[in-house]
Order: sequence, then C-alpha cells, then structure tokens
Amino acid sequence: MSNKATLNLDGKSFEFDIVTGSEDEKCVDISSLRSETGYITMDPGFGNTGSCFSSITYVDGTNGILQYRGYPIEEVAEKASFVEIAYLVLYGELPNEEQLREFSAGLKEHAPLHTNLEHHFSGFPKSAPPMAILSAMLNLVSCFHPEVLEVTSAGAEFERTATLLMSKVRTIAAFAYRMAAGKPINHPNPHLGYCGNFLHMMFSDPYQEYQVSPVVEKALNLFLILHADHEQNCSTSTVRVVGSSRANLFSSVAAGVCALWGPLHGGANAAVIAMLEDIRVSGKKPEHCIERAKDKNDPFRLMGFGHRVYKNFDPRSIILKKQVHKLLAELNIEDNLLDLALELEEATLKDDYFISRNLYPNVDFYSGILLRAIGIPLNMYSVMFAIGRMPGWIANWKELLDHKQRISRPRQIYTGKTKRPYVTLMER
Ligand code: ACO
Repeated sequence: MSNKATLNLDGKSFEFDIVTGSEDEKCVDISSLRSETGYITMDPGFGNTGSCFSSITYVDGTNGILQYRGYPIEEVAEKASFVEIAYLVLYGELPNEEQLREFSAGLKEHAPLHTNLEHHFSGFPKSAPPMAILSAMLNLVSCFHPEVLEVTSAGAEFERTATLLMSKVRTIAAFAYRMAAGKPINHPNPHLGYCGNFLHMMFSDPYQEYQVSPVVEKALNLFLILHADHEQNCSTSTVRVVGSSRANLFSSVAAGVCALWGPLHGGANAAVIAMLEDIRVSGKKPEHCIERAKDKNDPFRLMGFGHRVYKNFDPRSIILKKQVHKLLAELNIEDNLLDLALELEEATLKDDYFISRNLYPNVDFYSGILLRAIGIPLNMYSVMFAIGRMPGWIANWKELLDHKQRISRPRQIYTGKTKRPYVTLMER
C-alpha cells in the first residue's frame, strides 16, 4: 500500500505523506499544503485536524477505548490511586515505590498556600463562581513563586513545579469553596493522602474534624482518575495553544480552567444535575427533555450526552454508572436523581434521533450523582473536573515544549468586504 496520499488540484498532482500512529490511526500530513499549492484546509471545530503527535493518551471513539500511556482505563480505575496515575500521565511510566514516596512527599510539602496568597480569597465576592476563583488564583500562585515562570519542560525544576501545581490546585479549590460558603478555611493536614486531605479541607469544621470515610475517599479517587487526561479536548488544546507562545505553565493551565468551564465541556456535569433536578421538581417525564433536545428551534441540549470522539459508549460513563450504584448502596443513600438518569438514558437509547447520531452518555452524565453522594456542592463540580484534569494539562504542556512545537496559529478564509477607499465622516 502507498504511504502517500495524492491530491489533484488545478490540474496538478501533489503527494503528501501518510503518517500512522502506534495504534494504527492514520493521517495525511498536509503541513506543506499551503506552501506547495496555495490552498489551506477548512475544518471548523477541528473535528478532523490533528494538532500534535502525543504519547500520553489514546482514545478510540468507535470502540469506546481509553488508555493512559497504554494502560486501559478499566484497569487503572479499579486498581490504581490518583497520585500513581498522575505520575504515570506526567512521566510516562508507573512510579516505583521510591518514586511514589517522593512524589507524594512533594504533594504534601506544597499543599499549604503562602499566607499572603490566602488573603486574596477574601477579596472575592461571596457569589464568585469557584471556576473564576480557581483560574485567577492559579495565575496568582506564580506571583508568589516567581521561579516557576522560568521553568522549562525537563529536569528537577519542572518536576518540583508540576508537583507544586498538582498540590496547590487542590488547596485553592477547597479554599474557594470555604470562602464562598462563608466558612473558615481548613489548612492541609500532612497526615492525610491526596483525596483525604481535600475532603478534610472541604468539610472539617473548627470543632469537628471531618472523618474521612474510605468509601468516599475511594469514590473521589476514582472520579479523579477518570478525569486525569483525555487527549486533545477543548481545555487541553487551549493549554497547548497558550503554551505554544511559550507562556508559563501556570498561565497555560489557568486558561485551561476557563475553557473547561463551559457547559459543552466540563460545565456539563453540573448542568446534568440541574437538568435532572428540573425534571424532578417540575414533575415532567424525562421524555419531555428528549423532545426539547430534538427540537432544532430550541437551544436546549441533553446534557451529559454526545461526544466529539466517542460514537459509542464513553467507557468512563460505564465505570461511573457502576460506581454510582455501588457508592449509593455503601452509603445507604437513595437518590431519585439516579432513577431519573436511568430512565432518561433508557429512553434516549431507544430514540431514533439519538441512535442515528450516535449520542450516548458521556463522562459527565453520572459523575454529578457521584459528587452529590460524597457531599460536593453543585458549583464545585467543574472545579473537581479541573483537579482531576491537572496531570493531563501539565503533561500536554510538557510534551508541547519537549517537541519544540511551533506557535499555534490557524488560518482562515476571509469573507468580509474587499478593498475599498476610506470615506470621511462628512461624506458618510
Ligand atoms: N442533545 C441533542 N442533540 C445533540 C446533542 C445533545 N446532547 N449532542 C449532539 N447533538 C446533535 C447535534 O444537534 C447534531 O445534530 P444535527 O446533525 O441534526 O445537526 C449532531 O448531534 C452532532 O452534534 P455536534 O454538535 O456536531 O457534535 P459535536 O461533536 O460538535 O459536539 C458535544 C459534541 C459538544 C459534546 C455535544 O454532543 C453536546 O453539546 N453535548 C451536551 C453537552 C455535554 O454533555 N458536554 C460534555 C461533553 S464530554 C466533556 O467535555 C468532558
């Protein structure tokens, strides 16, 4: 088989290399298209555009496969800790005992925030969305650690900075919640693990230390693993685009938080719960949502359904659905939003509109019910996603620099007015 693709344009023939990935995915390398032919390609939303070579995460949307550095999501979700997976995503291999000990020690060391940084939280209004606080505070951290602005993608300084960021995001997230809730902040407890410490900072009270339940800790660990990376999604691509100008790691991930915030991306987990609550409170049948989602004159979309890449079940939603059932049983919670979600899923899977468009539940469909069960407030759901996605963002920023990738700068086809002379105000 030829490893070239031929393109016929304006009576001439041009050849472009065909590149094959390690899982046999194929692409036509058109990087010389414009210089050779004068043409560009058009692909709004980048549905068919490869923007980089990456060895971090593999997704096969047709067959519902997700692998971090080659490890299937089903296996790591069952057996690993989030800290191990963060290390894997960042550095390419699972840590040995010593590496894990050192990485965990770094996460503990960097958990506290600089006292002056803490004061900034009180400057936000009570109504400030935690995603806005998170993005702002991530940029602010770099002002208190100016050395991180110079960090490149390799060596001990990078490792220290990556660990610092992984740790600080968790503390900032918990403090943002405490401030917004009008509660005093809880400083990190070095005796607790990554998830336990977060739960303590969120839920301990001055006179009553939160008792970290192993069941809840495990559920949070699983949630974070499932969000650790997902190749070139909207927020990760944003981190890469910002990083491609050689912007520092903190600004790049702060931009990632902003991209994640939208309801079509990481904001969907909270939107799913809002949608289910609306069904519950209004007493409408789930079919009402389905009819609205199908109506092209109604901007409403069925939240937690559909995916750019998965045209089959999102493997993360299958894992989450099972986990949610298990967790509710273990915690002895009855949540009628789960019943509504199951009803809604069943009805969509029989509906021609959803079948013909390959719309299945995505990661956000069941994750909100898990977060609800462990007591996370609704306005923190996307923040939880951001904590989980941090290793993926950092790893992609690192890879971009390691590959010395060019600055991101797409082209356009101009559709505005053609050249015309200026008309003075008097003449208009
Ligand atoms: N409800 C109703 N119709 C939908 C939905 C939905 N949730 N998702 C897609 N469609 C329809 C579109 O209207 C379109 O129909 P058409 O062919 O008749 O015009 C068709 O399915 C294809 O959809 P696109 O919008 O082209 O798909 P795209 O890949 O651009 O969007 C997205 C993917 C944003 C996830 C979309 O499915 C969606 O909006 N889902 C709801 C929001 C959501 O759950 N987001 C979380 C995604 S996972 C994540 O980011 C972590």
